[in-house]
Amino acid sequence: MMELKIQLIPTGEIILPPGKNGENFCHNCKVVASDGVRAMMESALTARDRVGVQDFVLLENYTSEAAFIENLRKRFKENLIYTYIGSVLVSVNPYKDLEIYTKNHMERYRGVNFYEVSPHIYAVADNSYRSMRTEGKDQCILISGESGAGKTEASKKILQYYAITCPASEQVQTVKDRLLQSNPVLEAFGNAKTLRNDNSSRFGKYMDIQFDFKGAPVGGHIINYLLEKSRVVHQNHGERNFHIFYQLIEGGEEDLLRRLGLERSPLQYQYLVKCLIRSVFINCIYVIKALRISDSHNSYFPFSVFCYGGEEGSACITSDTQIKYLARLLGVNGSVLTEALTHKKIIAKGEELMSPLNLEQASSARDALSKAVYGRTFTWLVNKINASLAYTDDSHKHYSVIGLLDIYGFEVFQHNSFEQFCINYCNEKLQQLFIELTLKSEQEEYEAEGITWEPVQYFNNKIICDLVEEKFKGIISILDEECLRPGDASDFTFLEKLEDTVGGHPHFVTHKLADGKTRKVMGREEFRLLHYAGEVNYNVNGFLDKNNDLLFRNLKEVMVMSENNILTQCFDREELSDKKRPDTAATQFKASLAKLMEILMSKEPSYVRCIKPNDSKQAGRFDEVLIRHQVKYLGLMENLRVRRAGFAYRRRYEVFLQRYKSLCPDTWPNWQGKLADGVSTLVKHLGYKPEEYKLGRSKIFIRFPKTLFATEDALETRKHSLATKLQAGWKGYSQKYVLSVFCLPSLAAIAVQAWWRGILAKRRAQRRRQAANTIRRFVKGFIYRHKERCPENEYFLDYVRYSFLMNLRRNLPKNVLDKSWPTPPAALKEASEHLRKLCMQNMVWSYCKKISPEWKHQMEQKMIASELFKDKKDNYPQSVPKLFVSTRLNGEDINPKVLQALGSEKMKYAVPVTKYDRKGYKPRPRQLLLTGSSAIIAEEGKLKQRIDYGALKGISVSSLSDGLFVLHVPSDDNKQKGDVVLQSDHVIETLTKIAICAEKINNININQGSIKFTVGQGKEGIIDFTPGSELLVAKAKNGHLSVTAPRLNSR
Ligand SMILES: Nc1ncnc2c1ncn2[C@@H]1O[C@H](COP(=O)(O)OP(=O)(O)OP(=O)(O)O)[C@@H](O)[C@H]1O
Ligand SMILES: [Mg+2]
Repeated sequence: MMELKIQLIPTGEIILPPGKNGENFCHNCKVVASDGVRAMMESALTARDRVGVQDFVLLENYTSEAAFIENLRKRFKENLIYTYIGSVLVSVNPYKDLEIYTKNHMERYRGVNFYEVSPHIYAVADNSYRSMRTEGKDQCILISGESGAGKTEASKKILQYYAITCPASEQVQTVKDRLLQSNPVLEAFGNAKTLRNDNSSRFGKYMDIQFDFKGAPVGGHIINYLLEKSRVVHQNHGERNFHIFYQLIEGGEEDLLRRLGLERSPLQYQYLVKCLIRSVFINCIYVIKALRISDSHNSYFPFSVFCYGGEEGSACITSDTQIKYLARLLGVNGSVLTEALTHKKIIAKGEELMSPLNLEQASSARDALSKAVYGRTFTWLVNKINASLAYTDDSHKHYSVIGLLDIYGFEVFQHNSFEQFCINYCNEKLQQLFIELTLKSEQEEYEAEGITWEPVQYFNNKIICDLVEEKFKGIISILDEECLRPGDASDFTFLEKLEDTVGGHPHFVTHKLADGKTRKVMGREEFRLLHYAGEVNYNVNGFLDKNNDLLFRNLKEVMVMSENNILTQCFDREELSDKKRPDTAATQFKASLAKLMEILMSKEPSYVRCIKPNDSKQAGRFDEVLIRHQVKYLGLMENLRVRRAGFAYRRRYEVFLQRYKSLCPDTWPNWQGKLADGVSTLVKHLGYKPEEYKLGRSKIFIRFPKTLFATEDALETRKHSLATKLQAGWKGYSQKYVLSVFCLPSLAAIAVQAWWRGILAKRRAQRRRQAANTIRRFVKGFIYRHKERCPENEYFLDYVRYSFLMNLRRNLPKNVLDKSWPTPPAALKEASEHLRKLCMQNMVWSYCKKISPEWKHQMEQKMIASELFKDKKDNYPQSVPKLFVSTRLNGEDINPKVLQALGSEKMKYAVPVTKYDRKGYKPRPRQLLLTGSSAIIAEEGKLKQRIDYGALKGISVSSLSDGLFVLHVPSDDNKQKGDVVLQSDHVIETLTKIAICAEKINNININQGSIKFTVGQGKEGIIDFTPGSELLVAKAKNGHLSVTAPRLNSR
């Protein structure tokens, strides 16, 4: 028997060296790769189990926080820094080099199932990579934890993993190098030593790594978030400025320093003196060149400026040489710069004046300039790196993405300012996303799948996010309001406003609002937020200034004149003319975070939760209190409870069946029935116990990873036996084939024919299969058509929609009167209604566009006629199709004397009428003429009566089909002989014209039965209307005028 050696490697995984031929030594173990890198998971698991559990889900007492922490401690002691909670990786910062990041380690995790190997950051990286490749969905890895917990290190390890394990061509190699090189440059400019972390990220970073269809990294893109610019000019005690300054001064070559006019010692510089720990100089300049950011001395420009920044700052600048250097580096005129640093431009009575600054003001002007230049050049640097990482190959536009988020961790200092407020707000948002995507969505998934489930309570920090960001009522809105309002706004009025507005919020306290105990530990200038991760007191000093982030106008004017080619890209001339106030820093940050959340939500997330073991950055120290606090606020116990109460693994039925169908004779090679039944048959055959799994609506849920491991093992064994069978079959077949085909050439032609027929038959079969599939999908869709959209009916619903839209395109109504419209399917009812309205609007619009002015005039008159007579007068419908004419009597039809009497008065309309005498009702032919001011009744050459429109009291007409109408005039008007009874053959047209000319649209009375009118001197006449067979107008025996009108329309 051979000796079996077992060796413990740093991850705690057992490696079993294989036998000579790579065979297994124990029935329970398997050796996967011949280099002995991968080992049998079951045995490894057992060994690892001795050092706690590698997945908290397997923890016996999973509700106990003490057991959770004990497991972390046990593993930490053995240098096992990684543990899972399901698919979430918990990582404890070891503060020492563990040698678990070698190429061999990378190989072990490459292409291996998540649960098969011991927990590692590489397993998360590999899992995301494989999901991206197999499922084609963009991924993101969210790394969270407080400052110093190891986020940036984790993100670097992931990047290295991809750079080394992904396939690469020569061109891809350059991209890989650049991706890796971007890190030290950004860290040099964006990281600094703080009390919490010697290499603390002072900016947020989201990096997309783009992969082509072969899975090779081909490009990248970085988004940076709010750099802590204030660090350039001020650092807390024991902290340092950004690394780059020290790297340059302590490690820069002599020649370079001389050119920049810099001294070797940081003590020379006010901005740098706070903390002097020697830095290791990484030669950024070379990296910058490798990234193709810049090739001239401009590359050093941004940092050299600030080394000078600290040297001047009194109201008058004493050192000429230094201002000269500064001006040269900034590419501006020295005296203009001096003036801008010591004066402020004010506008008094429309005139621009330069007012001198005192020492304090000059210092803050200098600081503002330093911050602005550093902040803007940092963004410029990120843009340049992005340009160098951009994926430029146009032929393959499509790529998949893995996003890496490494953003500043939650932090609490003795003094916390605006920056900590933003950083901690950002962490609240990320925690909110974690809740949304894990705790909440996991529970929602069980509900959706119909799995019985005992909900787990967790603290939802949305209430704190709202407190900070809510519109109008949130802290950021209040801060903005104070920044923008006129008057004496200050940090303290901001604090007062906060107390007034959010004073009652359960997560907000100030000195004034606090109880006695809290008051003792709070300053009067502070407000406290009860974050999900703990309480933080923020000092309001500087909040308004930092939020405004303004640079004096004259300093801006100097900077836009700069001839330095980097600065011209940073300070845009248009900024000066832009009157709109830029968004405040907090609002910009809020918006960029909202965008980040959108990006992250659109991707499949993986989580790394980093824990910091102690505050003293020491290896091997496990501070239980500190760790318990982090376990609590990271929500790890809730995460575990949800995971444990739930299921470690879930897959859609079709995916599960596809993968494991070969393990059961009933499902192999294909299962014909319902997917759920197939899965049920399969797991029963595999011997799953009822408590090990649940079948949902579309997915199978497996409770323990071990069940899945066993299934994977079975699959692995099955693959081997299938491969052996295939090999044997193929060997036999190929030998027979070689004999029959190639040894007997006469049969070759038959063989070719047979092949070809085979190919044709295969093609036909495939077409048939496709057709059958389509029909099946169609029928299924039809059955499910009234259900919510689901995989069974989506094809059918899409088809119905598509065909409705195509049908609509062919059958759109032809004109506005065409009211036909195809019947839409239920899902498109609303859209169809919108389309119908749009179509109608469109037709109306194009119809209106074509109308001539004359036609428009006609239509307007017809509209008025319709308003007056539609459904009111019997002969109205007959008038509709007849066009109104401009006049029924031309110049030659009217007596010249009448025309002469009208003089300059313009005639608008004339029509022959019959006038009935007031007494005997004798009919007399007359002409009715309408001018701008009056209606005139003319007989031959005489103007018989003129009725000024002003005197026209009203017009009466019957509801029948006759043409009689009465013009009423005031009875006391001596000029008039009483109301006038007229009859027109075009009564609708005539009355419409009178109504328009006299503006009496509202004075037309339509009467039924009879009309009374005055005859003069208070006497009254009556016209009686009755329906009959033909028109008759005559004086009746009772002295009334009797009108019989034929019935034209039955109303
Ligand atoms: N996996 C690791 N192995 C060894 N040392 C580590 C590891 N992770 C972190 N460290 C150590 O901890 C330090 C802090 O880690 P890191 O800079 O990643 O913290 P961070 O979470 O990014 O903090 P911040 O939010 O302040 O940026 C590192 O400089 C390194 O010394
Ligand atoms: Mg960091």
